[in-house]
Amino acid sequence: MPHRIAVLSGDGIGPEVMSVCLDVLEAALGDKSALFSFEEAAVGGVGIDKCGKALPAETLSLCESSDAILFGSVGGPKWEHLPPDKQPERGALLPLRKHFDLFANMRPVKAYPELSHSCPLREEIMQDGVDIMVLRELTGGIYFGNPSGRDGEGQNERGFDTMEYHRYEIERIAQLALETASKRKQHVTSVDKANVLSSMVFWREVVIDKARVYNEEQKIAKKMKVELNHLYVDNAAMQIILAPHNFDVLLCGNLFGDIISDEASILGGSLGMLPSASLSSHKSGEGYFGLYEPAGGSAPEIAGKSVANPIAQILSGALLLAHSFNMTETASRIENAIHEAIRSGARTNDIANKKLFTKDKEETISTIEMGQEIKLKLT
Ligand code: IPM
Ligand code: MG
Repeated sequence: MPHRIAVLSGDGIGPEVMSVCLDVLEAALGDKSALFSFEEAAVGGVGIDKCGKALPAETLSLCESSDAILFGSVGGPKWEHLPPDKQPERGALLPLRKHFDLFANMRPVKAYPELSHSCPLREEIMQDGVDIMVLRELTGGIYFGNPSGRDGEGQNERGFDTMEYHRYEIERIAQLALETASKRKQHVTSVDKANVLSSMVFWREVVIDKARVYNEEQKIAKKMKVELNHLYVDNAAMQIILAPHNFDVLLCGNLFGDIISDEASILGGSLGMLPSASLSSHKSGEGYFGLYEPAGGSAPEIAGKSVANPIAQILSGALLLAHSFNMTETASRIENAIHEAIRSGARTNDIANKKLFTKDKEETISTIEMGQEIKLKLT
């Protein structure tokens, strides 16, 4: 039985970057390509146009019978007039996260020295390098808390949401943060707002407990301890751009992780470079069931022009191989090929050095050409 991948390209730049991603994956897999079957289905605005729903029933059933989901991006001006819960983002992405219990969202941010020109931060801030894993809780918190809605009228009309976290939700994401850090630089920074919010006081207590137990087990197993510290989210937002080198794993709840991960993507030069893996509590055959998608959106303003950066999508494909199929070696080869392509000067518009345009004429290349450059660097 081949490994089944549900391919949901979605809207905007989604289909363009997805086709390049699939091409690179196939090249990287070589003979092993035969082990995989990639099946496409409609999602987001395309789902609404074709089937009347952002997440059509047949798309959901394809996902259910698959081992992993490779996702593009959804949304665009065409569907903005719809009621919020029918729009592509809330109608497809959030239900998929909830349905498959994709509780852990990993967004690895790395700075490539060759792209320092696209990072607005000063050289001395970036010189020690950046390698941060933003680990965002994805199925709880204010995104899904009850009650949520609208009521009242006139001056008393209101809109409301509930920020809530259960112990099990905090424990499982904290455990994953500790395990992830133990394979990296042994440091977890937990982000909260424990100076104001009860749910975040609880978050901090549970994270501290979990780290204590984890470190006791590490000690018995004669393994390295993981350091834990805590930052209020406002301070965290400031510290990651003042001293990005100080961070290893950033553990965040759903809303704070959404905000902090966009901010952190700037350290990597462009949102077009930031992939993400959303891992389920359910295992599939060889690894986690997961949904893999670029952290950025559908970018309707550049869609159809073949100028989008496909790297976030390709890196998402590499994360799929690593986390859902334990193919870490192939995943590293893809990551290295991307680094080599960048080192040799391949630039889509978002990561081009605009200052060189007039002087040394840095050429930008298309989405497809970037894919070809990366394939050439595969070893
Ligand atoms: C993200 C996005 C989504 C989120 C939107 C599109 C619903 O911003 O994945 O970060 O808020 O989670
Ligand atoms: Mg976001």
